[in-house]
Amino acid sequence: MGVKILGIGSYLPEKVLTNFDLEKMVDTSDEWIRTRTGIQIRHVAADDEATSDLVIKAAREAITHANIQTDDIDTVIVATVTPDHFFPSTAAIVQAALNLRDVPALDISAACSGFIYGLILANGLLKTNISKCVLLAGAETLTKITDWQDRNTCVLFGDGAGAVVLKLTQDDSDILAYDWHADGSLGELLIQPAGGSRMPATKETVEKRLHYIKMQGREVFKHAIRCMSESATKVLELAGVGADELRLFIPHQANIRIIEAVRERLGLPQDKVMVTIHKHANVSAASIPLALYDAVNEGKIERGDLVLLTAFGGGFTWGSVLLRW
Ligand code: UT7
Repeated sequence: MGVKILGIGSYLPEKVLTNFDLEKMVDTSDEWIRTRTGIQIRHVAADDEATSDLVIKAAREAITHANIQTDDIDTVIVATVTPDHFFPSTAAIVQAALNLRDVPALDISAACSGFIYGLILANGLLKTNISKCVLLAGAETLTKITDWQDRNTCVLFGDGAGAVVLKLTQDDSDILAYDWHADGSLGELLIQPAGGSRMPATKETVEKRLHYIKMQGREVFKHAIRCMSESATKVLELAGVGADELRLFIPHQANIRIIEAVRERLGLPQDKVMVTIHKHANVSAASIPLALYDAVNEGKIERGDLVLLTAFGGGFTWGSVLLRW
């Protein structure tokens, strides 16, 4: 029995914010944003659009693409750090909206590594027969927790959702190897300080803008390159696969300079690396499923190709999954 990815879907909010729009909002420039990050535009959810709304659209497409009945789905997982509410979970909201059976639904919080963590969890649930068909989404509305007065962070993030349907089948597994990690001692380098039980929302926390993303970018940058390179190398070793055998490397899209540094360390040519940062910006847990969706639809990967997914994010969390697509 093997775990197959049967279908994939995605959704990006309609509104687009360009670097030139940001020039009018904070002291920045298109030139700085493009050269330091690779970002040109980002999608921004509407005021009345929450993360579940994005997931529902991506999930509907993934279910159609998978050619299954919604009743086949017996587990719903949403990876996000921007849930509709702390509770009920975004996954439960999605389950109701899609009219699924009363199957388990849960959110996971692993920031930009959320989709990788989700794939590894779904793989475990399917392989141990706890689940037979999992709907997994990586989705964010990061612009809702972005400080539009802070030029260090507001140019970096975007919104979107990607979803996949995974099923236990008689065929060989699509998930060949995985590697996942966390280092909570570095959590403060990338954090939304207020709003949880450590610092509940008060007038003061709002005035001090503590409900927004805070990041020590330069520090995070160094760790991201090291952890992503190590994890990608490790998962290839675990599978006994050489980097030259990969059809495509799909890294988390946080910064083109991080992507380039990891690509060089793996010894991959540029045409084997998926880049979507210019059009999606950093969409945290949604970045890898959105990039995977584009890779499939642009014909960059076909069934049977080896595809390596690697992410790094807040927590810190990081990890990789090697797929035979
Ligand atoms: O998603 C998972 C985790 N996230 C990441 O992996 C992100 C990792 N970090 C990064 O991508 C980069 O560190 C950033 C893009 C966030 C920042 O780039 P950097 O090259 O590390 O810039 P910096 O923070 O060292 O700042 C360099 C200069 C500073 O000016 P001074 O002090 O040298 O005068 C900043 O104030 O650039 C300035 N700066 C800006 N200038 C124009 C920072 N943000 C901006 C901006 N526009 N938006």
